[in-house]
Amino acid sequence: MSAKFLRRVSQEISDLTQRNLLRTLDARRSCQGGRIEIDGRELVNFCSNDYLGMSSDKAVIQRVSEEVKAFGVGSGSASLLSGRSSLHEELEKKLARFVGTESALIFSSGYLANTGGIPALMGRKDFIFHDRLNHASLIDGVLASNAAQKRYPHGRVPDFSGFASRKCDVKMLVTESVFSMDGDLVDLNALLDEALKNEGVLYVDDAHGFGIVGNGKGAAGILHQGPKMPSSVLIMITFGKALGSMGAALLGSNDVIDLLVQKARTYIYDTAIPPICVAAALEALTAVEACSKRRESLFENIDFFRRHATVAGIQLQDSNSPIQPIIFGDEEKTISVANHLMKKGFYVRPIRPPTVPPGTSRIRLTLTSSHSQEDILRLIQAIKDVVVSGP
Ligand SMILES: Cc1ncc(COP(=O)(O)O)c(C=O)c1O
Repeated sequence: MSAKFLRRVSQEISDLTQRNLLRTLDARRSCQGGRIEIDGRELVNFCSNDYLGMSSDKAVIQRVSEEVKAFGVGSGSASLLSGRSSLHEELEKKLARFVGTESALIFSSGYLANTGGIPALMGRKDFIFHDRLNHASLIDGVLASNAAQKRYPHGRVPDFSGFASRKCDVKMLVTESVFSMDGDLVDLNALLDEALKNEGVLYVDDAHGFGIVGNGKGAAGILHQGPKMPSSVLIMITFGKALGSMGAALLGSNDVIDLLVQKARTYIYDTAIPPICVAAALEALTAVEACSKRRESLFENIDFFRRHATVAGIQLQDSNSPIQPIIFGDEEKTISVANHLMKKGFYVRPIRPPTVPPGTSRIRLTLTSSHSQEDILRLIQAIKDVVVSGP
């Protein structure tokens, strides 16, 4: 390998280390859940998006073990060849029915749904308004579309009128529902009104809302009460969070989904997700539809955490979702808090730029239905010891 190349690689690593921005990997030796094993230690895990504990749910595991006998492990091909199974078709239909769209299309991940879906639907002649704090996959999707684009301040309702005179064909507003690093839920109905006023389309990344808000329907439960989603809305949901599996789906009208099948490069040129992942998502979706018990425990835990953390003097952000960031700004401080919590038996990772904007480094706590109130109280005490009272 070229010496020049290797020098550059090691220079970049050492730059990142000096700036406290180097990311490191751990390897879990247990199921995902409220408690995990890392490096031979059991840690209480406040770092997963498995909000409802579905990744290790008994019924989900049972279904997967049955379907693996029928379908095997890998999908073996892209969806347009032989990779799409009857389970894929069943999940697409079930999701569309639940959310209230005509159709749904399964992608291998949320990242691929956003980076392939947006460019398949928008192009050079179009204009996209997108929230400043949107996930990297949305930003990449918008940039790949080559549409004219502008980022608006987080959580605001952007005003398209300044762009009315621009020669643009279709306007799209792109947002997350529950924001992944801040946990706040934006006003989706106000965003839809603005999109409709301008004959535009609303694209909602519901990765962290689906299964949780809107009675489990996520953004759809907020955007409409009837059986049908407004046709100007496109929703992206992921299976790797509340559904405890992996994969994603884009939901919209029959025509939109047909066009995605023709044009979304991350759909066409990608191996379909394994049927066992689809089986897991199907079973988890049945639980999300049927029972609100886990959601209730989750929201009790969120409320419990917020009340006790506030009493402990910990500064929280405006979030009523499972995502509860504590912002320090400085990377060194954030790393030292995360390390302290690790020593005390909690798995919490520092979140730093470029995942969040410079000056907003944080620990991003995620609450799940699997946590006990005792776990939460012990976490709060450990944070208080290091943040409020000093290490
Ligand atoms: C808001 C948001 N969108 C998209 C994604 C990507 O989803 P996936 O992990 O399925 O690729 C994530 C995951 O981290 C996310 O938080």
